[in-house]
This record gives sequence, structure tokens and C-alpha cells, in this order.
Amino acid sequence: MPCRAGLDGQDDANRAEFDTVSERTIAEALSAASARLEAAGRETPRLDAEVLLRHVLGLDRTGLFLRLRDPLPVTAETAFEDLVAQRVAGKPVAYLTGVREFMGLDFAVGLGVLVPRPETELLVEWALEWLTERPTGTVLDVGAGSGAIAVTVGAHLRTGWCGRIIAVDVSGVALTVAIRNCDRHGVRDRVCFVRGDLVTWCGGPVDLLLANLPYLRPDQVEANPDLDAEPVLALDGGADGLDLIRRLIDDAPRFLAPDGALGLEIDPSQAEIVVGLVGAALPEAAVEILPDLAGLARHVVAHLCPAPSQGS
Ligand SMILES: C[S@@+](CC[C@H](N)C(=O)[O-])C[C@H]1O[C@@H](n2cnc3c(N)ncnc32)[C@H](O)[C@@H]1O
Repeated sequence: MPCRAGLDGQDDANRAEFDTVSERTIAEALSAASARLEAAGRETPRLDAEVLLRHVLGLDRTGLFLRLRDPLPVTAETAFEDLVAQRVAGKPVAYLTGVREFMGLDFAVGLGVLVPRPETELLVEWALEWLTERPTGTVLDVGAGSGAIAVTVGAHLRTGWCGRIIAVDVSGVALTVAIRNCDRHGVRDRVCFVRGDLVTWCGGPVDLLLANLPYLRPDQVEANPDLDAEPVLALDGGADGLDLIRRLIDDAPRFLAPDGALGLEIDPSQAEIVVGLVGAALPEAAVEILPDLAGLARHVVAHLCPAPSQGS
């Protein structure tokens, strides 16, 4: 039970303190919220409850655990219950807190912008590895969304890298958020933004093409209630999920540098098809499938090899 100092009603100061304190401790509020979220079918109920309560209380993880036995202030309890109700109704945690961590960086997110996913971090890691030996060049992030890929690559590249990163999206809402994230992480000198349809506007050459485009089929989007709040424009890849990826691959030979590379995020069911599409468009390329942390085929990457010069 929370501390009930001042219950005798004689001391206004104590009464005020009592009035602001809930009957429940932080631990009790967490357990109750977690049970509600679990009953509503949310996949990570305890984690969701913790993140929302930390957001309301302005505490980091350690701070929350140090105060588990403290009573919950009433104002915080009201705000927490409101957020839990919205989460029960299906709103993503990141939309409720307005932020999602991606490779150690906080990204602003909101309605109309896809919440960055942990598996996309693996694509960024692969890109950073590819860029290690290259002090310059042009990197293109197609379907930039919150800017998770472009901004993180820009922020993690070493000082002195003197190339440029271009982030393109067809959505003005997404680009507004991406630009905000770019400023937040101080990489405006490296990242620029284009509102456009895939790469139709781009003449090249591009050294590294990265894309996490919509790749789900409409039935996959409909079957997953967790995706309800996220923009269809960021999820739906057409009848077989590959409308945009196919267009991008078909166009790649036109603008990719002869010794460039590409990395695409996909649905695991599409891996072999996408490898075939890349192989057909870029016959000289060495194509590989990279698994995510669950062992599922999540990225198709390709290194272009310059054709041997005549006489060699
Ligand atoms: C799956 S989200 C990826 C967002 C971000 N790159 C990430 O990894 O979190 C796909 C993005 O592609 C954008 N998009 C959809 N169709 C597009 C098109 N024809 N050209 C450019 N971007 C497009 C959507 O607006 C959305 O922001």
C-alpha cells in the first residue's frame, strides 16, 4: 500500500500529498496494465506497459525499477491509463510516446510514418560495413519514412566521410518527419531529401542503393491488426507485395554505378523471387540473402562487379 501520511485530515499539506497519490504502487499499476494488454492480444504486454509508464513518469528503465514500490501519482495514473487504453485499441507504442529507438538513436515518429523495425538495423549495419572502405560516394535510401536508414547511416559514418546521402519518399508527411530526425541527429550536411516516386527523378550514378519499400500483400496487411494504425502507403506492396521492389530493380541498371551495391528489405517468402529479379537485372552482380535475428530471409544484397576491361 502507498504511504498514507496525513490521513487524519488535520494537515493540509499532507492531505494535498495524499490526494495526489494513487491507491496503487507503480508495480501494481504495471501488472494491471500488462494483464489488460495481454488480454487484448498485444504481443509484448509487459514491455509495452513499461515503456508507456516510463514515458509518463519521465524515467529510464533503472529509474522505474528503483521506484516499483512507490505509490503512483494520480495524474500519472490517469495519463497512463489513457495510453494503455489506446494501446489496447491497437495504436503502436511508438505513436503514443512519439519516439522509437533505432540503432541507439531516438527517432520521432507519428501517424502517417512507419515505425522503424529492429530488423532494418541489420540492413544499416550491412551498409556501414560496405561503406567502411569507401571515403566518398552517393548513397540513396528509397522509401525513407522516418529517415531511419538514411539518418542512421549518416550519423554512424566516420568523420571525414565526404559523400552524400539522398533520402527519397513519395509521402510529404514522412519527409517532414525524416527532416526533423535529420536535424535531431545533426546530419544535415550529409543527408538531403527528395519527394519523388522511387528513382524516376534520378540520373545517377548511385554507389549504394538501400530500400525498405512496402513489401506486404494486401491480405497480409489486413490479417495483422497490429498494422492497423500504420500507413497503408508504407506497407502495401501490391498483389504479390513486389510491385515497387520489382520496379526499382528493373530500373537499377540505369543508375547504379558499375562497382556499386544494393540492399533491399523483403518479406522472407519473397527471397528467391527477389534474388532472381536482381540476377536478371544485374547479371554481373554477386547476390546474397541475409537472415534476420530470427533466422528469416530478410534482406537481399548485391555487389556489382565491374566487367573486366578488354584485353585483361
Ligand atoms: C516500409 S516504409 C520504410 C520506412 C523506413 N525506410 C524504415 O525502414 O523504417 C516504406 C516507405 O516507402 C514509401 N513509399 C511508398 N511508395 C513509394 C514510392 N513509389 N516512391 C518512394 N517512396 C515510396 C512510403 O511512404 C514509406 O515511407
